[in-house]
Amino acid sequence: MDENDHDDNRVALVSGGSRGIGAAVTTALTQRGCRVGCTYRTGHDEAEKLAAGAPDQVLPVHFDLHDESTAALAVERVVSHWGRLDSLILNAGQWSGGRLAETEPDAWWSVIETNLRGTVALARAALPHLVDGRSPSIVLVSSVVGVIGHAGDTAYAGAKSAMIGFGRSLAKEVARDGIRVNVLAPGFVTTDMTDAVSPSARRRIEEATVLGRFGTADEIAKAAVFLSEDATFCTGSVLTVDGGWAL
Ligand SMILES: NC(=O)c1ccc[n+]([C@@H]2O[C@H](COP(=O)([O-])OP(=O)(O)OC[C@H]3O[C@@H](n4cnc5c(N)ncnc54)[C@H](OP(=O)(O)O)[C@@H]3O)[C@@H](O)[C@H]2O)c1
Repeated sequence: MDENDHDDNRVALVSGGSRGIGAAVTTALTQRGCRVGCTYRTGHDEAEKLAAGAPDQVLPVHFDLHDESTAALAVERVVSHWGRLDSLILNAGQWSGGRLAETEPDAWWSVIETNLRGTVALARAALPHLVDGRSPSIVLVSSVVGVIGHAGDTAYAGAKSAMIGFGRSLAKEVARDGIRVNVLAPGFVTTDMTDAVSPSARRRIEEATVLGRFGTADEIAKAAVFLSEDATFCTGSVLTVDGGWAL
């Protein structure tokens, strides 16, 4: 491996890069010289703003977790623009809660589908290009609820657990191609996704969190960049970044 592999000019694709954790990952990667394909579904303007803040380093790309065909198109767009792909951060996701007994089967499966189908499609589309990448890696953004479980989240936590099994198995499949696959399991983070958390639930979560607060998107981004760029002896790892909520 070339010692400059982790420096400038690497090419990454970040799904769900238009907002929240994905936007913070996009920015953190550009700050270390990477060029980043940043996917949006509805947040075209937000992705364009990120691109304006890092000229020639951010390429907004449309991707919809519900439409598998957009995965191949997103990967092709990045590869045709920059000629290769070195890292993939599978971050796009949607939360939807509800106790099993109170959730209709179709709604339950839709949470699984939304979080998994497009994510797997992106990984599948990216693999042939990552094989030719420099120090290639995949990071899956799961959740700590996929590690320890959470009442009211059987579907979302089920999808996030599946990402862990998927990622660890893929790590074994593609190690021979030099590709590392790791999983990030954030705890509660202040983004649009947690806007819906009521003040009383927020207080309970903060009390249960050893560090006493929600994390920031930037704190999660640092861990994602570590796994993606620096953790050259990590594969199949699950890194929990939750302020001690799961302790
Ligand atoms: N926030 C937390 O506390 C927390 C904790 C653990 C894990 N996570 C995980 O971290 C990841 C990012 O979460 P976040 O808090 O940053 O969420 P967020 O602020 O709601 O942002 C979600 C991102 O995913 C994209 N996205 C949502 N639905 C999509 C779909 N159907 N197809 C394609 N893209 C879609 C959004 O794109 P557009 O805006 O362009 O539509 C946006 O860029 C998710 O996988 C989430 O499950 C979050």
